[in-house]
Amino acid sequence: MLPEDKENNLAIEVKSLTKKFNDFTAVNNISFSVDKAEIFAFLGPNGAGKSTTIKILTTLLKPTEGKIRINGFDPVKEQDRVRKSFGIVFQDPSLDDELTAYENMDFHGVLYNLDGDLRKKRIEELLKIVELWDKKDLLVKTFSGGMKRRLEIARGLLHHPKVFFLDEPTLGLDPQTRNQMWSYIVDLNKKEGITVFFTTHYMGEAEKIARRIAIIDHGTIIKLGTAEELKKSTGTNSLEEAFLQLTGHKIREEHSSPLDKMRQRRRMFHR
Ligand SMILES: Nc1ncnc2c1ncn2[C@@H]1O[C@H](COP(=O)(O)OP(=O)(O)OP(=O)(O)O)[C@@H](O)[C@H]1O
Ligand SMILES: [Mg+2]
Repeated sequence: MLPEDKENNLAIEVKSLTKKFNDFTAVNNISFSVDKAEIFAFLGPNGAGKSTTIKILTTLLKPTEGKIRINGFDPVKEQDRVRKSFGIVFQDPSLDDELTAYENMDFHGVLYNLDGDLRKKRIEELLKIVELWDKKDLLVKTFSGGMKRRLEIARGLLHHPKVFFLDEPTLGLDPQTRNQMWSYIVDLNKKEGITVFFTTHYMGEAEKIARRIAIIDHGTIIKLGTAEELKKSTGTNSLEEAFLQLTGHKIREEHSSPLDKMRQRRRMFHR
């Protein structure tokens, strides 16, 4: 295979990516790539740099250094093309609570310039898939956490993205909802060849769903491979053991102060 053929086969390409917040380095010179139609997990302890990386890949933050391509486009220079080619489920909830499920979907469709009939058709299709069609006219503030997450997933898929980023999509969901959600995403991956890049703290999910896993800690990728490879290289029997061996048992100090966190949250909500 020629090098350029290989590059064309990549959904995500990251070379020497670094992100600094003033003098703090949140992401430190990471490189990796994700094939088209691959399911890729990004694991790491709290504060490792997972969300920061996702925000850079999805144009929400500018990298300090490094080269990135999403479906061949540069998120720094070709923001619009990149934005059209991915869908995202954020770590922090980002629905409008005062709107109905349908209105949240519709608003997103308008932002992506989906014309009326197509928008209606896709909203109905997706709300049916995530089993929220009969709840479409309820205000989102009346939804449970699981229903909100399902709605965010449906919304992220509305413009038929080629790459789907999910930042801790299953946080706080019961096992039934988590299973149902992943089986839908895996199905989509198989049928439509959508690339999936996700983070989770549930090791079992990563092991079951992802083809390859990257383990990031203190902004650096310390291991990348299949679950089998990670276990083998650490001489452990489970992904959790491998993860703990690679990242240690110490609980992470959070870098930012509670005030910074509050500011961050506020920024997320007022995006
Ligand atoms: N806007 C910001 N300004 C300053 N520091 C930041 C900012 N955003 C993130 N950080 C810091 O960068 C580091 C990485 O944060 P990030 O949110 O990427 O971690 P994470 O791996 O997603 O963690 P978690 O599992 O807790 O979600 C943390 O120390 C965090 O406090
Ligand atoms: Mg995060």
